[in-house]
Amino acid sequence: MSGLTVMIVGSGAREHAISCAYEKSSQVERIIVTPGNDFIAFNREKEVIVDPACNLTLPQTIFQQAKKHNVDLVDVAQDDPIAAGTVDFLLSKGIDAFGPEKEPARIESDKKWARDFMERHEIPSPGFKYFDDNMEAKAYVRNLFDLKKDRVLYVKASGLCSGKGALKATSINEAVAAIDKMHDFGKAGKVFLVEEGLVGEEFSYYAVTDGENFKVFRSAQDNKTVFNFDQGDQTGGMGVVSPSLAAEPLKKDIHYHMLSKMISGMAKDGLAYTGIIYVGGIIVNGSPVNIEYNARWGDPECQAVLTGVQTDYVDIVRASLEQNIESITIEQDEKTRVCVVGASRGYPGDYSNVKGKRIFGLIEAMNMPGVKIFGAGIKFDSGKFYANGGRLFSVVGEGNDVAEARERAYAAISHISIEGNNLHYRTDIGWRDVERFRSKQA
Ligand code: GLY
Repeated sequence: MSGLTVMIVGSGAREHAISCAYEKSSQVERIIVTPGNDFIAFNREKEVIVDPACNLTLPQTIFQQAKKHNVDLVDVAQDDPIAAGTVDFLLSKGIDAFGPEKEPARIESDKKWARDFMERHEIPSPGFKYFDDNMEAKAYVRNLFDLKKDRVLYVKASGLCSGKGALKATSINEAVAAIDKMHDFGKAGKVFLVEEGLVGEEFSYYAVTDGENFKVFRSAQDNKTVFNFDQGDQTGGMGVVSPSLAAEPLKKDIHYHMLSKMISGMAKDGLAYTGIIYVGGIIVNGSPVNIEYNARWGDPECQAVLTGVQTDYVDIVRASLEQNIESITIEQDEKTRVCVVGASRGYPGDYSNVKGKRIFGLIEAMNMPGVKIFGAGIKFDSGKFYANGGRLFSVVGEGNDVAEARERAYAAISHISIEGNNLHYRTDIGWRDVERFRSKQA
């Protein structure tokens, strides 16, 4: 009997990591990634085809890919196709599709809808107000800063902005500039939120659900700003550590307040949320508070978390699709992973002059022990790799502890460079947990 053909929808290092999870399954024979990137198909054990011929916001084009490759299962992994209703469309055509449908996925794609949902279902979250009028929003923030000068606010576009739509403001001037910037996000920034900025350590947490029950994965901590010391612009994520030593002790609270309430809230609202749910949280005075939900795996969190999952990923996905997640035990190894993202210099701003430059050292780095490399903006031509995006690749080092994992990740990325000194990465990923680990040892 021949094995399954699985198609993954998305283009980054997350989709590369998901393709590796399917590759490990003895049930899978062939993997298609659309639109994918060149590095995903490089050096694979099973047949992995990258087929760029789709438009992520047009479900019909993804359906055409599924038919063309005669696939058995589609994993819709990226935010845009989920928000566009790809899962609904594929299911309506009789194709098994993993991921949430369009309406429940508004938990990510419509931040105003999401905050109203969280308020209705008493999920701990920051105070917020939403606006579609800049003047009103500016008057509101001026009043807030008049009442208390020393505060942090976030101005957030309600729609999808590749992780860059939340702007921090610590003064009236910054808040006003952030409100003006919402215009740059086009339709996604037409409605925006002004949220109370909470102070604490952030974490990411993942579960898979069948709409009623859920099973969890290990936690992670993402580093979202472009530069060390949490400085600079927000990015899609510059690196993670998993598990997060800050989040793991709070599992019980996270499960109850962030996962149970969310899934039962969806059901009460007449919606069934199935697939991966991503909690982006912050720890305030020892308790988790929700910053956001995302309707998918995080990138780069997935590269560190899913890599440690030992249970057959097809079984996990099937159990979610068949409303039988209770039947599954998710086995995960005991390793710690540190993932460092390599980006084009200039990202998340203008990095156009890096496009087409050669990337050196990828093969040497990927052959180092305890290291995996997942590709994002990479082009492969005649045996050579070229930069082709903002975030280019994720280097994941694994170890028996966070110090070993971090050492391996940084030893590997130090082998990699981009023509003209154009590789950028943060050098402090995982620092909080390394300090915790070292202080326990001392
Ligand atoms: N790591 C942040 C995100 O995936 O949205």
